[in-house]
Parts: sequence; structure tokens; C-alpha cells
Amino acid sequence: MSLYRNTVWFIKGLKEYTRGGYEAASKQFNSGDLDVDCKGHSYMITGANSGIGKCIAQEIAKRGGKIHMVCRNPKTAEEVRNELIEATGNQELHLHLLDMSSPQDVKNFAKKFVDDDEQLDVLINNAGCMINTREVTSDGLEKNFTTNTLAMYMLTTHLLPILKKSSQPRVVTVSSGGMLVQKLNTDDLQFEKMRPFDGTMVYAQNKRQQVVMTEEFAKKHSDIHFSSMHPGWADTPAVRSSMPDFYEKMKEKLRSPNQGADTAVWLAVAPAALSHPSGLFFQDRKPTAKHLPLAWTKSNTSEDEHLMTLLNDLDSKYS
Ligand SMILES: NC(=O)c1ccc[n+]([C@@H]2O[C@H](COP(=O)([O-])OP(=O)(O)OC[C@H]3O[C@@H](n4cnc5c(N)ncnc54)[C@H](OP(=O)(O)O)[C@@H]3O)[C@@H](O)[C@H]2O)c1
Repeated sequence: MSLYRNTVWFIKGLKEYTRGGYEAASKQFNSGDLDVDCKGHSYMITGANSGIGKCIAQEIAKRGGKIHMVCRNPKTAEEVRNELIEATGNQELHLHLLDMSSPQDVKNFAKKFVDDDEQLDVLINNAGCMINTREVTSDGLEKNFTTNTLAMYMLTTHLLPILKKSSQPRVVTVSSGGMLVQKLNTDDLQFEKMRPFDGTMVYAQNKRQQVVMTEEFAKKHSDIHFSSMHPGWADTPAVRSSMPDFYEKMKEKLRSPNQGADTAVWLAVAPAALSHPSGLFFQDRKPTAKHLPLAWTKSNTSEDEHLMTLLNDLDSKYS
């Protein structure tokens, strides 16, 4: 089954996820969709110092939005903040240092943001990683899971009270089409049983979990517009460092980081995005299937709810 899924997925990717795929899809874009004034609105972007997150920040800053950049590396984050202020003329870029692989820090950060009664209209969960060996955090949690899944769950959950004060709140999660090769698996969230450890499949499972969480959040919180998306295959530091073989083979065909960011920006700011129901998975400004044909990756409602229960249990271990 995994050979079937991987083959179908790769063929789909060659057609749709490449620069050529973006150029073909973008012919259908409504050119006015991003003519939006973001002044008066506030956007939080995780991983805003690099790749897709940086491009999202720049596009929204250009449109006048207030940006909360949530980053772990103080040096690159400050450099990028200055670069974006210079490029956009928008002074409202605020830096928050946070390592998303520390659940306690994620919880503290979100709670303080809410206690400070900061305004937040849109949360963009963009930070992500693919670590190819099994590493555990000081809490004993597998690092990809902690950064990609648990952090997204905790940050979103603990920012809900402030998002709910917005007139049109949105949560956009940068997932990946790579999730199409994985069925949700809640039996081994820490990948203790996986032999051999496979960073690509761990990442794909985490990205599937993000898509399932987006659906579950959407079911529970009808006053917030939730979406997940696939950026396509974009030339970013993560792809170069975590997938060097893929990068070497595909580098001529990769999207630019801006092309990868386009749908996330559209989901975050375009009024047109809100015409779609909450909880969907998008690619190139359109809702797209969450499953490959005949791939048997659909989980049932109780499995999806079980994921949320397990994440809630983990979250409750932190004060
Ligand atoms: N590029 C693609 O083709 C592609 C395809 C599908 C999905 N995606 C998704 O797109 C998102 C952005 O990735 P990218 O391709 O733009 O790669 P990138 O340029 O390497 O950006 C990844 C961002 O995540 C941050 N990050 C990683 N671990 C973190 C942690 N523990 N705490 C805080 N921040 C952390 C990184 O911070 P540092 O700079 O400090 O490392 C960086 O800002 C990810 O969720 C990725 O899975 C990308």
C-alpha cells in the first residue's frame, strides 16, 4: 500500500506541486482576491523568519497588517524583522522568541498573550520541521511530533479566547501534501515502535494530524474559520537540509517560497477564502481532497476525536 500511495502521490506532485503546477493553477486565480487592506488587523505567524513564513509575513505587512513573528532564533528573526520593516515600510512587526518544541513555553507564551489582552485576528501555524533521527525533548517527547503536532494544538487551543474576540477570526495551518501518504495513527504518537525511524513518514503523519486537528477544531468552534493547506514543493532551507536527495533531483522544478506562501496568504486575508466552509484542506486557493483515491487513509470520527483527547491529556500536564 505504501508503494502505491507514494507512487500516486509523486506523480500527482510532479504535475501539481512544482513551479509548473503553480503557474498552471494560478491562471485560475481571481486577480483581485489579494487587494486587501489589512490595517487594523493582527496576524501571528510562527516560523516567520524563514522560507514560506517569511513570505507570508512580508505579504501581510505590505498590506498594513500588524504582525507577531513567533521565532526561535533571535539573530535571524531580528534580521528578518528589520528586513521586512525596510521592505514594506510597516513598523508593526513584533518579535516573540519561542521554541515550539517546548510545550511549557508554548503554553506560557499563549497564556501571556491572552492575559495581555493583545488583539489577534489570524493565527498562521507555519513553523515545522523534519528531523530524520529520533530525537526527544527534555520532556521526553519525540521532537517532530512536539513541534509539528503538539505545538500547533497547544498554541491554537490557548489562543482561542483572544481569537474569539475578533470579528472574523481565522486559523491557517501550513500542512503538507505529504500527509496524503499517511493514515492517522494515534497508537504511536511518539514513534517509539517505528522501525527503522523514518523522518519523512513521521513528518507526513504529523502533517496528517494537522489536517485532522483542523477539521476537529472547525467542528467545535464554528465562530472561527479554520483551514489547512499545502504550499506545493518550494525551495526553502527546510527542503534543502531535511530532504537533500529530493532537493538535488527537483531543484529546477521547485516553486519559489513566495509561490509556496500564496495560498496561506490568501486563506489569511482574502474575503473569498471565507466563502468556503471551515475545516478544509487547500492547494492553490482551492479546497482539495484530503485523501488519494483508493489509498485507504480515511480515519473515522472516533479516531479523530481520540487524537484530540490524547493531545488534550498531554497539554494538561503543563501548567
Ligand atoms: N517548502 C516546502 O516545499 C514545503 C512543503 C510542504 C509543507 N511545508 C511546510 O511549510 C512550513 C514552513 O517551512 P519552510 O519550507 O518555509 O521551511 P523553513 O524555511 O526551514 O522554515 C521553517 C520554519 O519553522 C521554524 N521552526 C522549526 N522548528 C521550530 C521550533 N522548534 N520552534 C520555533 N520555530 C521552529 C524554523 O525556525 P528556524 O529558522 O529557527 O529553523 C523556520 O522559521 C513548514 O510547516 C513545512 O512543513 C513546506
